[in-house]
Amino acid sequence: MSISIGIHDLSFATTEFVLPHTALAAYNGTEIGKYHVGIGQESMSVPAADEDIVTMGAAAAAPIIARHGTDRIRTVVFATESSIDQAKSAGVYVHSLLGLPSASRVVELKQACYGATAALQFAIGLVRRDPAQQVLVVASDVSKYELDSPGEATQGAAAVAMLVGVGPALMRIEDPSGLFTADVMDFWRPNYREAALVDGQESINAYLQAVEGAWKDYAEQDGRSVDEFAAFCYHQPFTKMAYKAHRHLLNYCGYDTGKDDIARALGQTTAYNSVIGNSYTASLYLGLASLLDQADDLTGRSIGFLSYGSGSVAEFFAGTVVANYREHLRTEENREAITRRRPVDYAGYRALHERSFPADGGDHPTPSQTTGPFRLAALSGHKRIYETR
Ligand code: HMG
Repeated sequence: MSISIGIHDLSFATTEFVLPHTALAAYNGTEIGKYHVGIGQESMSVPAADEDIVTMGAAAAAPIIARHGTDRIRTVVFATESSIDQAKSAGVYVHSLLGLPSASRVVELKQACYGATAALQFAIGLVRRDPAQQVLVVASDVSKYELDSPGEATQGAAAVAMLVGVGPALMRIEDPSGLFTADVMDFWRPNYREAALVDGQESINAYLQAVEGAWKDYAEQDGRSVDEFAAFCYHQPFTKMAYKAHRHLLNYCGYDTGKDDIARALGQTTAYNSVIGNSYTASLYLGLASLLDQADDLTGRSIGFLSYGSGSVAEFFAGTVVANYREHLRTEENREAITRRRPVDYAGYRALHERSFPADGGDHPTPSQTTGPFRLAALSGHKRIYETR
């Protein structure tokens, strides 16, 4: 019998501020139905001046360390596409902020929004090699598009941390995976840009092609059939995208695409993403948190996951929810991470969006805005200085 490996714990963090889409719509004159219904978004998380992928990642992982300790963690894999350094892994800062043992390996992974799934699968491989070890996976991103562009409404920010090990308390991750890679320029961010470049409609088509390709390979690897799944978690750049993707999958497989069936399969996966916005690598796993926090007992049920990262790489895989998982959820804390955000007005959001550190190597303290457990205190001598509260 193969050993059971998967997600033992899952926790997330998001930002200090939130911009409701009503404020964006009032500013740019968009009919609010386009945001609320057309793309399925209510609001988006906006990082404070002293928040970034490190502070969010550490805030997401801290409750996991508090619950499980550090003894078995020998690897930290940090997935992001909004990297803060071309050489040093953001995971090393998180390792330090959390006081993890020096006998650890730490690395950063990138392939757009797909990176966290690569991290999860690599973690499973490490645990299979030595089942005594656990791997901390952190997926943290700030999604940033140009102001006044169509992408602006699909920004957001969050981090998800997952502890991967044997005998998981939440979900067993199964073989096989369906894989798909295609060299497309649907969304990308050259090193010299802070905001992503995107061809919106092309990115939607590329996502749908990737769903089809990953599923085709999954079926060829003797995966489960569509009707064996209790629910499907999709990468959610905006929540309506999950609906488009699932409709495409059902069509491809020759199933009915009735609205109710699609809503039943996805409805409980979108609650967190619809108010946080696109969190790139974290988005798929926020979908899982939302599902587990809201659904009736899913013990023994299979969940389908479709991870998509522009450029593009996709993977379809299944997880099975384990007995007593509800005792290990963080439902209260998850809701608190969302409700604790403070609304920012459009002008305040715009000022934060336009903010960046001077590149002169001087001392640049950041305004103290976040009330979270970790903050980016300054950039000094080209070094990021973090503080713990
Ligand atoms: P747009 O051109 O502003 O919007 O861009 P639209 O005109 O396509 O309208 C959006 C939807 O709202 C349409 O529905 C409209 O009909 C509807 P659809 O036809 O798609 O079903 N609509 C309304 N509905 C109700 N009431 C109304 C109303 N008006 C219009 N009054 C777009 C939208 C998503 C393209 C843009 O925001 C964008 O470029 N976003 C960024 C790219 C993106 O998120 N792509 C998704 C796939 S790629 C991906 O997932 C990877 C990614 O996460 C990056 C990574 O991997 O790292 C992005």
